Amino acid sequence: MDVLIQEAEIRQRVAQMARRIEADYRGREPHFVGVLKGAAIFHADLVRELTLPLTIDFLSVSSYGSGTASVGPLTLDKDLEDDIKGKDVVLVEDIVDTGRTASFLFRWLPKRKPASLRLCALLSKPSRREFPASPDYVGFDVPDRFVVGYGLDYNQMYRNLPYIAALRSPNEEPSIAHSEHTATSEP
Ligand code: IMP
Repeated sequence: MDVLIQEAEIRQRVAQMARRIEADYRGREPHFVGVLKGAAIFHADLVRELTLPLTIDFLSVSSYGSGTASVGPLTLDKDLEDDIKGKDVVLVEDIVDTGRTASFLFRWLPKRKPASLRLCALLSKPSRREFPASPDYVGFDVPDRFVVGYGLDYNQMYRNLPYIAALRSPNEEPSIAHSEHTATSEP
C-alpha cells in the first residue's frame, strides 16, 4: 500500500477542522453523530480537539457487500440513542465516496427535527460522487483509490493504522508486504 496522508498531517488537519467548527458553533452545544464503524477513530479525535460543550452519539448503516464494493439498499443497523429534536447535529463520516450514505442520512435524519444538520467528513472522493452530498467540513480530498487506515477498512482490517494508505491493485508490486516477507521472527 501507498501512504497518502501521514499521522502528523491528520492530527494537524483535525485540529484545523476543530477550530472552524468551534467558530461556527460558538455559544451552542452541538451533537456529534459518528457513522460506525469507519468514523469511530476520526470522531474520537475530533471531539477531543473541540473545546465546546458537546454531546455524542453513533449510528450505523450497512449495505450488502464486502471488500471494495458495496451493493444493495442501505439499512439502518444501529439507531441513535438520543433524541435529536432541536439539536445542532453534526454528522461525522469517515469518507464521502459515492455520497450514498450521506444522502440517505440527510433524507432520514431531518425527520427527527434537529435544529440544524451538517456533514463533517475526514475524507472525500469528489470524482466518485453519484448522489447529492457535499460535506460542510472536509479533511482531505483523495483520489479515486481504495483507502484504508484511521478507521477505514478493507474486509474489516487496517482500521488501526494511524495513517491513510491506498491499497495497490493485486498486480502492482507490494511494498509493505515485501518487508513482511523479510521478517524472520513470529508475530
Ligand atoms: P458512500 O459511497 O459515500 O456511501 O460511502 C459509504 C462508505 O463506504 C463509507 O462511509 C466508507 O465506510 C466506505 N468506503 C467508501 N470508500 C472507501 C474507501 O476508499 N476505503 C474504505 N472504505 C470506503
